[in-house]
Amino acid sequence: MTRPPFFRRPILAIGDFSLEELLFVLETARSVHERREELKARLVGRRMYYAFFEPSTRTRFSFLQAAKQLGLETVGFSSRTGTSWQKGEPLKDTLRMIQGYGADVIVMRHPVSGAALWGAESIDVPIVNAGDGAHEHPTQTMLDLFSILECQRPDESWQELRDLGKMVISFVGDLKYGRTVHSLTKALTKFRGCSLRFVAPQSLQLPVEYRDYLDEIGVPYSLHTQIEEVVEETDILYMTRIQKERFPDETEFELVRRAFQLSARHLRGAKRNLRVLHPLPRDKENLELDFSVDASPYAYYYQQAANGLTVRLALLSLVLGGIETPEYLGRESGEPAEESPLTPLALGRSHPDKPRPEYLFTIQDGTVIDHILAGHSGLVKASLRIPRGVPVLVAENLASRRAACSRKDLIKIIGYKPSRSELNQIALISPDATVSFIERGSIVEKGLVRLPRQVRGLLICPNPNCISRPEFREGVESRFRTLSRTPPVLQCHYCDARMRKNEIAFVGRA
Ligand code: CP
Repeated sequence: MTRPPFFRRPILAIGDFSLEELLFVLETARSVHERREELKARLVGRRMYYAFFEPSTRTRFSFLQAAKQLGLETVGFSSRTGTSWQKGEPLKDTLRMIQGYGADVIVMRHPVSGAALWGAESIDVPIVNAGDGAHEHPTQTMLDLFSILECQRPDESWQELRDLGKMVISFVGDLKYGRTVHSLTKALTKFRGCSLRFVAPQSLQLPVEYRDYLDEIGVPYSLHTQIEEVVEETDILYMTRIQKERFPDETEFELVRRAFQLSARHLRGAKRNLRVLHPLPRDKENLELDFSVDASPYAYYYQQAANGLTVRLALLSLVLGGIETPEYLGRESGEPAEESPLTPLALGRSHPDKPRPEYLFTIQDGTVIDHILAGHSGLVKASLRIPRGVPVLVAENLASRRAACSRKDLIKIIGYKPSRSELNQIALISPDATVSFIERGSIVEKGLVRLPRQVRGLLICPNPNCISRPEFREGVESRFRTLSRTPPVLQCHYCDARMRKNEIAFVGRA
């Protein structure tokens, strides 16, 4: 099934867009000012709500200005102070209410990672993510890409551009909490021919999930601690502010707040085409971007901010249907079919000659969970929702001939069959466990537990600032994509944090 990619489509994360789609947005933006009157005639009276739970100057003003130029009605708030957030209102309720008032699009900034995606799942109105915690800022990335191409490839058509021709993009500053860095890194990986440099104090380096991703897809990058190490080869120097508001501890911020102060002096050996970008605001207390750069031919950040209006004009026009999406961008959609929670194993025959401890008596009806990692039967049993009164036999530390573990635990449950989600949970605790369902004394189904493509409602995200964390009380069921089954690596659906076996924490258990 194909669907139009932009009309009523939420703009949540840069990974949701193909390179062709991103280039279409940028090419559209190039001519959007000339089309303003025509677009206004189509869109006049549509309603843009804006919900800024965090401070903003550029993003909010440029969306509001774009809305004004398109004839949209605008309603919104610029600070959560003064809203019912102060009375404890869940995000979902705020957005439902805005939907009820007839919003055609909602531009939202929120301090919690994954809030935009959760919002989009809660309502039918398209949400534009104007920044969600330290996670993503996709519209900033679109304007950053526009700026990069404007200053490096001004005379080319961008629609067919696939290769950046050995462009070196160096990110400097707070690469841990800087959401613009995360989104732009992902966007650049869609092109061929770019090399990335990440310059940061060790504690603020690019998070491991992004580095793993770069490794997986083979994009060249290197890590640095000094601007001087990269400046001579750089085409785009992307400076960022140290994000004080995201540090859990102010003393940690004090250690790094002046880690970098780019001045005109640093740019003496730079290539002529180098341009300094910065999503802004810069921090006048710590001046990661010294005023001496402003008058240099390398400064491009004010133009970059101005490009925000251009790109947001194009985005609003697309999402509201003022500009149609060309057919070549139609794409496949639809969820893959759900998989069985067990990898089938042959039922096999009984082994009358195989010595069998006496206590392992057979059961007539129920479930046998075998090959549990020794010492993990308690965890497996606790993870099941076995009704009170159901007999359970637990055997620990049995000899095992399977290579995966020389000792194993085993559980027999009489008259009970675990659900799909319980089997998923066993796969997380003990990935080599096998499960046999018994009916009238015979095994009717046997399989190796298998992590599903998605794990829902079982795990707590390791990112303390993820919208699915129970402490935010937003009523969000956690969701993870399985990136690898052995060893288990899962990725949070909301904030993209990766979880490895030693980080697995189950909902409802400390
Ligand atoms: N670049 C950016 O998001 O700026 P504001 O915080 O001022 O919106």
